[in-house]
Amino acid sequence: MTIHADFDRLIDRRGTNCAKWDAMPKVYGVPVEDGIPMWVADMDFSAAEVLQDAVRGLLEKANYGYFTGESEMKDAVAWWMKSRHGWSPDPSHMFSTAGLGNAIAICLQTYTDPGDEVIIFTPVYHEFTNKIVNAGRVVKESPLVPGEDGMYRMDLQSLESALSGREKMLLFCSPHNPAGRVWTVEEQKELAAFCERHDLVLVADEIHHDLVLPGHTHVPMPVAAPDIAERLIMLTSSSKTFNTAGSRLGTVTIPGTMLRARFSDALTALNLSPNLLGCVLTRAAYTPQGAEWVDQLVGYLDGNRAAFLDAMGQIPGVRAMPMQATYLAWVDFSNTGMEMKEVLRRVNEDARIAPSVGAEFGKGGETCLRFNIATPRARVEEAATRLQAAFSDLQ
Ligand SMILES: Cc1ncc(COP(=O)(O)O)c(C=O)c1O
Repeated sequence: MTIHADFDRLIDRRGTNCAKWDAMPKVYGVPVEDGIPMWVADMDFSAAEVLQDAVRGLLEKANYGYFTGESEMKDAVAWWMKSRHGWSPDPSHMFSTAGLGNAIAICLQTYTDPGDEVIIFTPVYHEFTNKIVNAGRVVKESPLVPGEDGMYRMDLQSLESALSGREKMLLFCSPHNPAGRVWTVEEQKELAAFCERHDLVLVADEIHHDLVLPGHTHVPMPVAAPDIAERLIMLTSSSKTFNTAGSRLGTVTIPGTMLRARFSDALTALNLSPNLLGCVLTRAAYTPQGAEWVDQLVGYLDGNRAAFLDAMGQIPGVRAMPMQATYLAWVDFSNTGMEMKEVLRRVNEDARIAPSVGAEFGKGGETCLRFNIATPRARVEEAATRLQAAFSDLQ
């Protein structure tokens, strides 16, 4: 069956309790009437038809009671990982959590103690820091370093010399949010060896793994560094790929026996089990029809990338990082000669656009804004035009 997903269709999400649109005035002061939300990592496209069919099937049964089907879902996860990513996880090593933020929080509780340090490579998805701090653990930031090609690199040497000995865990985002970086096998091997040398649990958050743009290949950590299996926690979910974050379901795969037993005990203690909608959507997503939709989605996102980055490149002093993955454009305003307060004022008030504020992503993000471009092309172009107008006085 060949599908034709229509990503150009403008959908009005205002007034639907959609966080990205309806919380925009409160958080940014950008009016919902003609503002463009480019913050929350959520897509403005209609769900894949295969998901709609699955939800219709659920409605027709008119039964939302206790259910079976988690093991079939895990089989679907294993099929997807094998067919899309060349990784063959064992379904018996998988656990379901209420999304991956929840999975990170449980990992912190399970494998670290209050006061332990947790390493992150900043700038990075801001919730990493929040989860670590909320758990009473200590954030150890290792700033990423931009290379000559404008892409971030990890600096393991500097990190190594700054270790205190209290580090217990390393939280790794692959592909990287916010910078859209796809890590090479070599980089991942070096990181795995680093974790081995310093006896760290490596939590690999690969939620963005399907959103890899043409010309790039994401290699899952257990494929890049199979030797790390005993200390690896893999976090994946169909939610970023298929825009189903509201269904709150993530998969945690733990190949190592010891770490797996501890996670299992933690879930039992919390009495956590997956929810019906999350299971139904994940099973529907991880199918050949779902794969076809994702292929079309990625092609469309690549077109948005080209349009948006090209437009940003025309504003003097503004530099967007090349994107290898995700639908998040990481844009640096440091060469505009403006204070970030003024940059934000122009973006929010003059352009009526709400991007994510770079400083929230940790060290190195202070002069950047993150723009979510997963919205119909016409809206991306409108946003680009408004941004160019807001900075038209720059030479
Ligand atoms: C790297 C990363 N991890 C986790 C999450 C959140 O996952 P969830 O909605 O399943 O809690 C996000 C959301 O943007 C993310 O970018």
